[in-house]
Amino acid sequence: MKKTLGTFMTVMMITACGGADETPVASATIDQAAMQQEAAGIAGQFAGTLLPTLQQAMQEGGAVNGINVCSVQAPLIAQNLSEQSGWQVKRVSLKARNSALATPDAWETAVLQEFDQRQQSGEPAGQINKAELVDGEFRYMQAQPTGPLCLSCHGTEIAPEVSAALAQHYPMDLATGYLEGQVRGAISLRAQP
Ligand code: HEC
Repeated sequence: MKKTLGTFMTVMMITACGGADETPVASATIDQAAMQQEAAGIAGQFAGTLLPTLQQAMQEGGAVNGINVCSVQAPLIAQNLSEQSGWQVKRVSLKARNSALATPDAWETAVLQEFDQRQQSGEPAGQINKAELVDGEFRYMQAQPTGPLCLSCHGTEIAPEVSAALAQHYPMDLATGYLEGQVRGAISLRAQP
């Protein structure tokens, strides 16, 4: 992954010098597509690891237990994936619950606003993503849709004991009031090409 753009440059130089019959055709677009595919895979892994963990925690002890588990496991999954993959992996939202981890930077803010618009225009939130080279860095975001499961902790009607647990863990919580189908936030990845 780290070598993709470097390899591309080499290929271009060889091709420009008229050699390399056997050199596979490469282009900047293809390299970005490869990085995008890798990022999408990691985002899928994040959601695919967290969701069953959350579901199990809620089955065992309801939403309050879900909050306890999520507050520990979600940052841990992000950290493990970052260490394993070499990408920086995090979750962000325009209305962050964990403000220390999930507050978006300028690019992420603009992309999250774009995601909201795309969702409002009819694109299913789960299919919305964006990849871009930003200041030489490859960045990717995958929207996270608000499904029925999410509403007990992110919806418009939060049970009092859930509100109390949220207030205890996240006194600055902004992440309630969502409707099913809306973009709750995104998994955000970045790496040097
Ligand atoms: C049991 C309660 C609970 C449920 C259900 C739940 N969440 Fe969360 N969510 C949390 C907590 C707690 C955090 C903060 C985790 C942390 O500290 O990183 C959070 C954080 C997030 C974040 C990271 C951004 C932020 O605001 O901190 C996203 C994105 C998110 N949730 C999406 C979802 C989606 C999508 C669903 C449904 C599939 C869902 N959540 C279901 C409790 C819940």
